[in-house]
Amino acid sequence: MKPFPTSASGTFYLDETQPLEDRVDDLLSRLTFDEKIALTHADSKFTTPGVPRLGIPPMWLSDGPNGVREDIGPHDWKRAGRSDDYATYLPVLITLAATWNPELAKGHGEVIGAEALKRGKHVMLGPGVNIQRTPINGRNFEYMGEDPWLTSRMAVSLIKGIQSKEVAACVKHFALNNQEWERHKVDVAVDERALREIYLPAFEAAVKEAKVWTAMGAYNRVHGQWCCHNERLVNRILKGEWDFDGVYVSDWAGTHDTAQAALHGLDLEMGTPFENYDDYYLAKAYADGLEKGDFPIETLDDKVRRNLRLMFRTKVIGRPGEGVLNAEAHQAVARKIAEEGIVLLRNRDERLPLAAETLGDIAVIGDAATQRFARRGGSSEIKALYEKTALDGLMDLSRGRFDVHFSPGYLVREWTDAGEADVAGIVQGGREAGVGVSEAALMERAVAAAREASVAVIFATSSKVGFQDTEGGDRKEMRLPWNQDELIARVSAVNPKTIVVLYCGAPVEMPWIDDVAAVLHAWYPGMEGGAAIASILFGLVNPSGRLPCSFPKRLEDSPAHHSGDPLHYPGIKRKADEFFDLQYVEGIYVGYRWYDREQIPPLFPFGHGLSYTRFEYANGNVIDEDRLVVCCEVTNVGDRAGAEVVQVYVHDHQPSVDRPPQELKGFTKVWLEPGETTEIRIPLDPRAFAFFDEFLGVWRQEAGAFTLRIGASSRDIRLEVPYVLHSGGSL
Ligand code: GLC
Repeated sequence: MKPFPTSASGTFYLDETQPLEDRVDDLLSRLTFDEKIALTHADSKFTTPGVPRLGIPPMWLSDGPNGVREDIGPHDWKRAGRSDDYATYLPVLITLAATWNPELAKGHGEVIGAEALKRGKHVMLGPGVNIQRTPINGRNFEYMGEDPWLTSRMAVSLIKGIQSKEVAACVKHFALNNQEWERHKVDVAVDERALREIYLPAFEAAVKEAKVWTAMGAYNRVHGQWCCHNERLVNRILKGEWDFDGVYVSDWAGTHDTAQAALHGLDLEMGTPFENYDDYYLAKAYADGLEKGDFPIETLDDKVRRNLRLMFRTKVIGRPGEGVLNAEAHQAVARKIAEEGIVLLRNRDERLPLAAETLGDIAVIGDAATQRFARRGGSSEIKALYEKTALDGLMDLSRGRFDVHFSPGYLVREWTDAGEADVAGIVQGGREAGVGVSEAALMERAVAAAREASVAVIFATSSKVGFQDTEGGDRKEMRLPWNQDELIARVSAVNPKTIVVLYCGAPVEMPWIDDVAAVLHAWYPGMEGGAAIASILFGLVNPSGRLPCSFPKRLEDSPAHHSGDPLHYPGIKRKADEFFDLQYVEGIYVGYRWYDREQIPPLFPFGHGLSYTRFEYANGNVIDEDRLVVCCEVTNVGDRAGAEVVQVYVHDHQPSVDRPPQELKGFTKVWLEPGETTEIRIPLDPRAFAFFDEFLGVWRQEAGAFTLRIGASSRDIRLEVPYVLHSGGSL
């Protein structure tokens, strides 16, 4: 190790004008063995100790993907009860994905980064980029859908946004954590093509394109090894092939073995459920092992080097930026994402938008209309400065122009029982009017309210409560809970102008779909969600969301559930130990790749979303610049401004290997005034024609005939452009 002179500005490693790696080397050379060991594991729920002797403060980590979580702990999972940690509650990530707008993802990240700075957090634990393999994964709401290309584009922008504030993002959960059921015990078996083409691309893009500064290991095992210290995934792929130079952090309690943690690339152990931090796997046991020569000292220096690099990058060492918390500009970003992420699924006879001046009155039905979802769902919870409910949004918008009659229709008992329910003080009988009333009576009252009103809007939800849209468990079915299907059927039977708004983080079955006038999928749209929903219902905003995941008609249609074999979902308990074998039998056929190949018509296809205007496509072609660029013209042929998401799917006519009928390889979102035409240019990724050759271990494209399918969704293809690829080879 070369000796470093003290630079003119003082201690060399403090000199921000010096190269990062030299500062890392200098500081590493000054640390004692114990100080090095201390930097590889937690000293509280969400901190590592820094180096007190050198005046280096602790490094703070914090959830999560849609805002800065309130303080927890410090040594347990209780909320710290501070009064200064209210924050901006951004829409959950599947809402962001549904915007198909990477610019908004960047803005989402910048808000998180700015608020993290203000709250003194250095590492933000998000985005989660796990692919939606099953519609009933409890954490689908936290991720960005079923397609690796859409997820990659949104994740790269989000990470760049966070890190633009010198706060680290953390791409998670690496890898194959696609369900919550027994997440600590499933052992996933997946074929190499599915691993490389479906489950890894978003992580690869996060590392190679966004230069993400941290990555989090998943709880599960893959091919028999824990993800938090997995030789192949971490040492060979993440750090080897992809040259990741950041910190690989365990999920909380995801570390299980000192030797594996020492040798298989874990750099930071967090959340291990031991009272005494010295009992952590990378604490005393690791130190002893190093001193006995069981592990090379280089393993420690590499872990510490990565942690020091992170501490320099995030200004744990140095002068962090100021940051801003709860700025109106941040709330405006939350509003924009909600407005662009809400998806208009159905709009029969153009029932929407509603006309406030002539509406007369409206029956607002459903407990979800009064609920605030921010502080639920698990680690992504947010203590929001405020959250506008749907009822708030409608009341604010009505301004006396129409009457609002509220009726719960159903109650989410957990909200009542938890005692945390926010009971909105609302007109015509509030939620509290429903407490203590039987389900049957609630439904009767709602049906009666609907019968009298000119329009009925039902707010249904799978909610962020246990075994619904929440971390730690999966939904047990894809149907709406709490008899909401019956409620919707009965209300729509008495009012033909029944509109359904879904606060759901994933697909739900809709047996009533042909009985209602319109359906909006609102996901969990953040603190401004209620206002965004009202704006869309009344046409102040033209919806432009598109589905980031297919909505199957029935759970059994979906690839992970089609066989009904528990080995394929949720896993089968092994006799020899407490783990569950889980086989991703569908391989690369996830989402629309499956529905297309199996010719199973989904209820709503990947990429689907309606507008209050219409778009026409013309003159599709492809030009070969430094990259292939797919072009066409799109015209707004309706009478109101709106946004269209133009999608490009690649079809390979004669592959030598099994390939999906089409794969999303490009998209862009454009806003057009009525009558306006614009030229669309969508550059294709270099891998647009390629597949992963599992025998050669490389991405490879084959010369041959392709079709570039340009459309408004995966099943609404407007133009087909033939293209012949003249040269094959590995990429
Ligand atoms: C949780 C989650 C992870 C989160 C971490 C800290 O169990 O799996 O996403 O960041 O623990 O709360």
